[in-house]
Amino acid sequence: MSTLPRRWIARAILCGALACAPARADTVPPDILSSARALADMIQAARAVISESQTLINDPSIGDKGLTGQVVLARTLAGYKAATGRDPVAGDQTTREARLLKWQMEAIVEAVDSHQATINVRGTGFKAFIPAAFTRLVNEAFARRAGTEAHVKQTAPRPLIRNRKALPDAAESAAIAEHFLSPTWPKGQALAIDGANGPRPAFRILFPEYYSESCMSCHGLPKGSIDITGYPREGAKAGDLGGVLSITIAR
Ligand code: HEC
Repeated sequence: MSTLPRRWIARAILCGALACAPARADTVPPDILSSARALADMIQAARAVISESQTLINDPSIGDKGLTGQVVLARTLAGYKAATGRDPVAGDQTTREARLLKWQMEAIVEAVDSHQATINVRGTGFKAFIPAAFTRLVNEAFARRAGTEAHVKQTAPRPLIRNRKALPDAAESAAIAEHFLSPTWPKGQALAIDGANGPRPAFRILFPEYYSESCMSCHGLPKGSIDITGYPREGAKAGDLGGVLSITIAR
């Protein structure tokens, strides 16, 4: 999941219970877009670290792998800075964006530190500590900190869903079907929709993510055959829409 969506469009659709209709382009405040982009960039950088460490994590001959929360965070920050040119721990730390990123960085550390026993077990190869599961753990740890202020969710087109916790809701499904799966949708372009799905009015920014060759051992062909994780392969191709990061930020 290394392809970071670099662009977003300042176009919003407001989704009611039954329909999604285009709304004014200028309704998403720039600080909300910037915060959502930063949260997406950070989780993608963290996930890339787990992906790059997969062979080490799956090595049954090594016990302590030295892959602590702080190690993963340091590599994540290096990747984040390389991808964005920004340093989240420098500059004004009183902004909401800085606060959200701080919670997310703490969540990254927590997700790794709380799974040291799994990561460091000797004699077991595949441990199910994979990028998607890690992403979900980080998002859950982030949710405990951010409450109703912000929410980061990993979802996907419904037929691709493996973990029910990732099921898209109605607004996400509509955005996927009408926009991200449309042949005319510019690849990688994010979409802002109304996020009023909880207690606070919010915006949701959706970032499409595409399968790469490295995903095919589990999500590729032959469709229906069982992958190393025990799930049937989806029969996907590199370049297909594989998932969506759905980031909600309160107004
Ligand atoms: C080792 C096998 C494996 C590889 C490689 C893999 N995935 Fe997955 N993927 C899984 C499993 C297992 C889950 C369910 C994780 C969970 O329980 O939350 C999953 C879940 C997901 C989800 C969340 C939606 C859902 O079904 O729960 C997305 C999005 C996703 N994968 C995309 C990708 C992309 C993109 C790549 C490549 C960059 C990739 N995966 C590589 C096994 C894999």
